[in-house]
Amino acid sequence: MGTPTDSVTMEKIVALCKRRGFIFQSSEIYGGLASTYDYGHYGVLLKSNVKAEWWRAVVQERDDVVALDAAILMHPRTWEASGHLEGFTDPLVQCLGKCKRRWREDHLREGVEAAGGNLSAELRCPECDGELSEPRNFNLMFETHMGPIQDEGSRVFLRPETAQGIFVNFKNVLQFARKKPPFGIAQVGKSFRNEITPGNFIFRTREFEQMEIEFFVPPAEAEQWHQHWMAERMRWYTDLGIRPDHLTLRAHGADELSHYSSGTSDIEYLFPMGWSELEGIANRGDFDLTQHAEFSHQKLDYVDPQSGDRYVPHVIEPSAGADRGTLAFMVDAYDEEEVEGRERVLLRLHPRLAPVKAAVLPLVNKDGQPEKARAIYEELRRRMTTEFDTGGSIGKRYRRQDEIGTPWGVTIDHQTLEDDTVTLRDRDSLEQTRIAADQIVGELERRLGADWRSPKLD
Ligand code: GAP
Repeated sequence: MGTPTDSVTMEKIVALCKRRGFIFQSSEIYGGLASTYDYGHYGVLLKSNVKAEWWRAVVQERDDVVALDAAILMHPRTWEASGHLEGFTDPLVQCLGKCKRRWREDHLREGVEAAGGNLSAELRCPECDGELSEPRNFNLMFETHMGPIQDEGSRVFLRPETAQGIFVNFKNVLQFARKKPPFGIAQVGKSFRNEITPGNFIFRTREFEQMEIEFFVPPAEAEQWHQHWMAERMRWYTDLGIRPDHLTLRAHGADELSHYSSGTSDIEYLFPMGWSELEGIANRGDFDLTQHAEFSHQKLDYVDPQSGDRYVPHVIEPSAGADRGTLAFMVDAYDEEEVEGRERVLLRLHPRLAPVKAAVLPLVNKDGQPEKARAIYEELRRRMTTEFDTGGSIGKRYRRQDEIGTPWGVTIDHQTLEDDTVTLRDRDSLEQTRIAADQIVGELERRLGADWRSPKLD
């Protein structure tokens, strides 16, 4: 086996995603819709697994977080209270020269700074060097109207974060979930932002999925829980195979903090375009509950039944992107190596994330092998996502499975028909072991549950 390389580029990931049907351009037959993507079969399975592992870690394996699924459309007052109507803006500049492109002024400044340029010099259009307009604040929320009349009174917004659906349900959950701070509410769902400069494939899009927790704590415990969640969330990524040296925690400077935050640290990942935010972990203080209490005229504080203390809980918010996470897992798993003179492309995905866990492959498509293979497949697929593949040479079938990240291949050959054993091929080590056919389910379940480590971590 060759040494894992760091040869990954965004172009290679995009090409693999298209070639194998993970993710492709939306509305392709009409020429595509800018920076909007559709997930195909393997992409759906992969992203579902990312979300399932998130649910497992934050709800199933804890007893202080409950689940919620709030509507995307919310009462418009929500966005006044949250500050999004007023403050969820990016500074937009437009090229007044030839190309007329629009840019985020803060991104242009960051670019100048990163290149060691003069920050006090006039910014120019990076595309055509044209003069730029004065910046104007551009609100990122998508607007629509509810009902048949399109006026100010029917204006609603597509939520730009799932978080607000949690805050407005704080009282409901407190009543029905029989929880008291410290406790959290977790939600996964679509969010929408009319980003000025989407890009880098599914890294920044206008429609995306978030996985957010709002963790409500007594004010004095906020810092301790902020630390707790930073450690927990870092551990989640590395437990699922991301190389620790490709992850870092970066605290926001005072000038970067969102309007609600009294402290945020980003988990950054080393994407092909450089270190970029994967997840934000913010200390939102009592900002949201206080605002919603004021705007809704409802009491959103907590009264401790024992001590009688009344307080507005502070909120620690680990906020991750499901699409961005999926991209990071793919990038980190991507590998190329030479095996017996041929290049092999593979995704060394953690088995729990892999879209397909096992492929059942008869060596030849005759002599009763397909029938025997089919019986094993039927048994396996009741327990895990499994593919049955009889098409093409065995080498070609392995290559296909390697590219979609299938950790195990089960090969049926003439010996299977004699002694009821199969060959189990490991995607990463390429090791092949002979095992009794009736033990294959147990063996793969054992491996799925085992403390798997990517060879890249060794
Ligand atoms: N409730 C807090 C919040 O929304 P954020 O840092 O704006 O914070 C959290 O977003 C996460 O959502 C980001 O770390 C990223 O993973 C994901 N995200 C945000 N904007 C995105 C976009 N335009 N495209 C894809 N993912 C995005």
